[in-house]
Amino acid sequence: MSDVEALKKEAGIAACAYVRSGMNIGLGTGSTVKHTVVELGRMIHEEGLEIVGVPTSLATEKLALEVGIPLVKLSEIDGLDIVIDGADEYDPNFQLIKGGGAALLREKIVAQEAKAMIIVADDRKKVQTLGAFPLPIEITPFAHQATIRVLARTLDCRVNCRMAGDNPVITDNGNMIADAHCGPSITQPKVMESEILNIAGVVQVGLFNDMCDVVVLAGSNGVETLVNPNGRLE
Ligand code: A5P
Repeated sequence: MSDVEALKKEAGIAACAYVRSGMNIGLGTGSTVKHTVVELGRMIHEEGLEIVGVPTSLATEKLALEVGIPLVKLSEIDGLDIVIDGADEYDPNFQLIKGGGAALLREKIVAQEAKAMIIVADDRKKVQTLGAFPLPIEITPFAHQATIRVLARTLDCRVNCRMAGDNPVITDNGNMIADAHCGPSITQPKVMESEILNIAGVVQVGLFNDMCDVVVLAGSNGVETLVNPNGRLE
């Protein structure tokens, strides 16, 4: 296992300390939180943990079923106790860029239903200013090139349609992903989120503002728990 993979695993497993029997848990998407999902499966089988999960992608749904986590639909329950998810970047105000795995729409729908959001990350995700990681934006397939042109004009940066080989990436929702290469310049993520959401053709943007309560961070000095002073968890 590479060093980075080992850190992802440490963070993913450490976040399970927030999980208690009886909770409804949002299950994020990505290579870090997959370790959380596997660990929750182990806790169900070996420790009698009783939870239900709501997955944020088809990939996480498949993994959760494989490891034996009972799943429910978000619409059928009265909210979530917590969601545990990964991030592509987080800044000192706990604002996030997400969507590197193209799951941002479901991730945001699930996060807005959760009483608290815990991010699992390795220390490469920590930034002073968001934006070095290209900002993922889910857009409709209809006239997607036109939407990308409007995004590039609005944001004044290069915006690409995310490709898988010769074809655009298609999300679990049948949409496409535009990646905005703004550089580390997103000093006002809430203003930017509103601007982007105001463009017809945009379904959702991977700026997660005022949602993250805790970052469980794995680095060379071990696992640190960073609590958002303005968040909902102590
Ligand atoms: C999925 O769309 C993303 O939001 C992921 O949560 C994010 O990209 C972090 O993924 P990794 O843990 O694989 O870096």
